[in-house]
Amino acid sequence: MRVLVTGGAGYIGSHTVLQLLGAGHSVVIADDFSNAKPSVIGRLEELAGVSIPVHRVDLSDYPATAELIAAEQQGEGIDAVIHFAGFKAVGESVDKPLDYYRNNLDTTLSVLEAMRAGGVRTFVFSSSATVYGENPVCERTEDMPTSATNPYGWTKVMIEQILRDLAVADDSWRIGVLRYFNPVGAHPSGRIGEDPSGFPNNLMPFVTQVAVGRRQELSVFGDDYDTVDGTGVRDYIHVEDLAAGHIAALERLGQIDAPWSVWNLGTGSGVSVLQMVAAFAAASGREIPYRIAPRRPGDLAANWADPAKAHRELGWRATRTLDDMCADSWRWQSQNPDGYPD
Ligand code: UD1
Repeated sequence: MRVLVTGGAGYIGSHTVLQLLGAGHSVVIADDFSNAKPSVIGRLEELAGVSIPVHRVDLSDYPATAELIAAEQQGEGIDAVIHFAGFKAVGESVDKPLDYYRNNLDTTLSVLEAMRAGGVRTFVFSSSATVYGENPVCERTEDMPTSATNPYGWTKVMIEQILRDLAVADDSWRIGVLRYFNPVGAHPSGRIGEDPSGFPNNLMPFVTQVAVGRRQELSVFGDDYDTVDGTGVRDYIHVEDLAAGHIAALERLGQIDAPWSVWNLGTGSGVSVLQMVAAFAAASGREIPYRIAPRRPGDLAANWADPAKAHRELGWRATRTLDDMCADSWRWQSQNPDGYPD
């Protein structure tokens, strides 16, 4: 297949690009580099041993997006789109809700309309476990109702609804919604990984930045939750396993009759903040100084995936261990203490 990967220079996008190429697919990247460094592309090409076509484009610009897809259709053609592009910082979305609704909804609508105009009907969407909202049942199954607690999360819920409506209106679409749990880890080469701009919002990049000396200590947000050790429990999944889930979903969409499908991508196991800190210290040989801080508003005590549907329908399951996640995150961060070069 020839796959257009929007946001292909980002964290999950870049790992998926490599796996698509490794599985024999070809790839075209569309990215505006607003939250990714162009130097990732050279590294991808070096690891894959091929050159990768890249369109620098603002996907909320419908004419530009339609022109891109139309031009590709006149050349080698596009068989499917994996749509990673979007704003993703929860805290920022609370401060700038209009920016988040505008960007995440506009880019998705523009890509879908350009696909419709260009005759491309296979679409994989980066959704998030955040769509399970505050459901008290920790083990999330795909049939649970969706909701959100912040504008970022609402953009995911809204886009999922748009995709459902589209599938009802036109059953020639093949849409796969992937609900990611907590992606961590990096490519085992240490050449590509997560490079958040500014202050890291998520646990793992914060831990790796403490380990490498960029930050003094980790704040552990709350130690009085009803969990194994009082700290928050999440389902961390290696980004390489997550990337493999996209290839499995894409291949499955080529075989099924249903125009709309949803799959959780998680391991099915919960890990606490302190368990993660201990695992990272063991894998890296670095101590992670931390202090207990107040709970972070909006945080949940615990959640993890029920990944059975993805296993049953995609033949996919996460295989990398917590130790792999920590060792690979550390290799990336220690070899690239300041992230990608400018
Ligand atoms: C967060 C988002 C979620 C988003 C996901 C993407 C919030 C409330 N939720 O989820 O919408 O889809 O990222 O990966 O932001 N922690 C610390 N100290 C830190 C950072 C985190 O103790 O400096 C703890 C948190 O309290 C939590 C766990 O580590 O218990 C994981 O946090 P994080 O990586 O931010 O992920 P989520 O909260 O699951």
